[in-house]
Amino acid sequence: MSDIQQPTIERKKRVLSCIQPTGVPTLGNYFGALRNWVKMQDEFDCFYAVADLHAITVRQDPAKFRQQIMETFALLMAIGLDPEKSLLFVQSQVPAHAQLSWLLSCCTQFGELSRMTQFKDKSAKHADNINLGLFSYPTLMAADILLYQPEYVPVGADQKQHCELTRNIAERFNSIYGNTFVVPEPYIMKTGARVRSLQDPTKKMSKSDENVNAFISLKDDKDTIIRKFRRAVTDSEARVYYGEGKDGINNLMEIYGAIVGKTMQEIEQEFEGKGYGDFKSAVGEAVAGELTPIQERLQTLLGDKAQLEQLMRTGAEHASYVAGRTLAKAQKKMGFYQFK
Ligand code: TRP
Repeated sequence: MSDIQQPTIERKKRVLSCIQPTGVPTLGNYFGALRNWVKMQDEFDCFYAVADLHAITVRQDPAKFRQQIMETFALLMAIGLDPEKSLLFVQSQVPAHAQLSWLLSCCTQFGELSRMTQFKDKSAKHADNINLGLFSYPTLMAADILLYQPEYVPVGADQKQHCELTRNIAERFNSIYGNTFVVPEPYIMKTGARVRSLQDPTKKMSKSDENVNAFISLKDDKDTIIRKFRRAVTDSEARVYYGEGKDGINNLMEIYGAIVGKTMQEIEQEFEGKGYGDFKSAVGEAVAGELTPIQERLQTLLGDKAQLEQLMRTGAEHASYVAGRTLAKAQKKMGFYQFK
């Protein structure tokens, strides 16, 4: 062996994640996932998609759905994802997702899918429409992921079980047909706040909450944001500190901290001797300050449909190229007849 040092060419690690185009994301989705996607885009080779195929497991109104796909795609850029750095695309525009999903569904057990807690929750919620897609949703998600051979999948804790299943499917496929897929790891995001409902801070903030005062949508205007924070449920102690039994204040402190970059202790110091009114206004102002520029960028992007469509097209083409190679590899390993 020569002792000449080999240059080390470090490939960036790859990540893939998707967001469903169902309704406007909340502040919880933003801090729990989206903002971290932006933070990852320099360090990693990122693929981010709008998971429209997943969305139809629950009935969608076609006209609204079409609009939401476009808006969600635009939102990815409005929050700061740069299509020059990250590959942004719409799932249904890359046919390999549906194709690989079928191959993988033949490597997924009925029992495995039956144990998915999201399936159980969603079938309880939509008892009149427990369709096959709702059941096989995780194999489609496995296809989304495995097509791009990512090392990491940044997701919220609620998607961890689906990521574990993806790993099992990949390992099973690799052991039956030979090494084909990278076995990815979930990347459960540690940064950022676990945002809770503003009306019942023991619950997660959810866009499907009946009480609109419980969540902040990324499209809420400044006045609405300020008003919702003013109405946020707290406690009767009137002292800003992080502690047990102070779920409401803890939540507001976490949101504030995630924006201004202060620790809980620093926030306590900042609001020492001040009441909840002052604190709530400060949180509302900070959130509005974070969301207003995003909303302005979103409006600008949506104002130029031709450009948006061009970006979608380019994203789909690039993604199809990468996905197509993996699909062909999987088909070959399984023994499908391929033209020379
Ligand atoms: N199931 C995810 C959610 O509801 C969305 C999703 C679809 C996804 N495909 C994915 C997330 C692939 C990560 C990787 O949030």
